[in-house]
Amino acid sequence: MKPVRKAVLPVAGFGTRVLPGTKTTPKELLNVVDRPILSYIIAEGRAAGIEHFVFVTGRNKGAIEDYFDHQVELEAALAAKGKTALLDELLAELPKPGEMSFVRQMAPLGLGHAVWCARDIIGDEPFAVMLPDMVMHAQKSALAQAIEAYDQVGGNIVVVEPCPEGQAHQYGIVALDGQDGRLNRMTGMVEKPPKGTEPSNLFISGRYILQPEIFDLLASQEKGAGNEIQLTDSMLKLLTTQDFHALEYQGVTYDCGDKIGLLRANVALALANPELGAAARAAIEDLLK
Ligand code: UTP
Repeated sequence: MKPVRKAVLPVAGFGTRVLPGTKTTPKELLNVVDRPILSYIIAEGRAAGIEHFVFVTGRNKGAIEDYFDHQVELEAALAAKGKTALLDELLAELPKPGEMSFVRQMAPLGLGHAVWCARDIIGDEPFAVMLPDMVMHAQKSALAQAIEAYDQVGGNIVVVEPCPEGQAHQYGIVALDGQDGRLNRMTGMVEKPPKGTEPSNLFISGRYILQPEIFDLLASQEKGAGNEIQLTDSMLKLLTTQDFHALEYQGVTYDCGDKIGLLRANVALALANPELGAAARAAIEDLLK
């Protein structure tokens, strides 16, 4: 069984739910507490052993590539001022030579199309997809949990979690062949099932391990819901010939592509931050008075 070494990060969307902030700043570079959303995603991927990150970018997303490069003047200024801890932190996040690739999706035709754009860089091996606006706060990296599951059962893995009571009709929901523990064989998935028809209460939360055969299916470029080329449509086709398992991971997900999700992430991760937690709590309590 080939190991999972590469991850695709689609970052070409418009981020309309968090406009106007995303008019000039890519959604993935919006800050959560003290660093961009992407910083959490790369840390999660590295903790899972990912060796190569493939960004699918679009117009106006150049700042992402710059974020993962030296800022020569800034680094020199920090060094001159003796701010070595801060400088070391910045340098530690930089990619090793060749660790990141950037491929352009020239129009945001859908998540499936974005993933397909990475096909030549991924080649013939299983790979991860990490939705970069979903921050997954977990003791053990969410992607590492998915790769552990993959090492156990192979095939394709979809990371899921329970949706809030009565809201399954707003999510992509998985159908399972029985539910026993956290890792279960999937029989299907459905986008936004009408109320009362939800096959489970588990929604697809933004991490996938996929086999390269998905690219042949994505190549047909068929449009689905929202007139977009959907990843789930090709996953459903692949499910007729390959195994899919849903992993209910241990952790909490924040949808930072949404205003309230972004706010929740900021509050929760500030409270959990060893240096800022106490001050954050005091500030929040003061606001709530
Ligand atoms: P979303 O639908 O959440 O992102 O797609 P969006 O389109 O940027 O958001 P809204 O709805 O307009 O606010 C999930 C991820 O897939 C990427 C997005 O950048 C986002 O990180 N994506 C989506 C692409 O890279 N290309 C696409 O064609 C669509």
